Amino acid sequence: MRGRARWRAGLVAVLFWVALPAGAADMVNGQKVYAQHCRVCHGDRGVPVMPQAPAFSRGERLMQPDLMLLSSIRAGRNAMPGFMGLLSDREILDVISFLRVLQ
Ligand code: HEC
Repeated sequence: MRGRARWRAGLVAVLFWVALPAGAADMVNGQKVYAQHCRVCHGDRGVPVMPQAPAFSRGERLMQPDLMLLSSIRAGRNAMPGFMGLLSDREILDVISFLRVLQ
């Protein structure tokens, strides 16, 4: 039993080591970025303030992969300004991970 538990702990450590640098967005940072740059239009908890803005509280527009959302946020879309140069891709991915828990 002890051997198996140790083996499992080792496996978990390796998985973390492999997954962290690639994935693992920082949702706490995402929340900060959201409050600073997105809340004015998309509203607290994703209930939009601006009529044309999608409601993340209802999961609107979130059925797209992260990289598609990243490119819309970078480039901007209609009434939404682009955030390229203002936010890094890392920060945008952090905020996307936060959008996904607003539902
Ligand atoms: C000036 C108001 C405004 C701000 C600030 C703003 N948005 Fe938007 N956002 C919009 C509007 C309006 C749309 C709908 C655009 C359209 O498709 O017509 C939108 C659309 C989106 C979409 C859907 C894009 C798609 O591909 O369908 C995402 C995701 C999004 N915003 C995320 C964000 C994030 C993250 C931030 C902060 C970094 C942000 N927005 C800041 C107004 C804003």
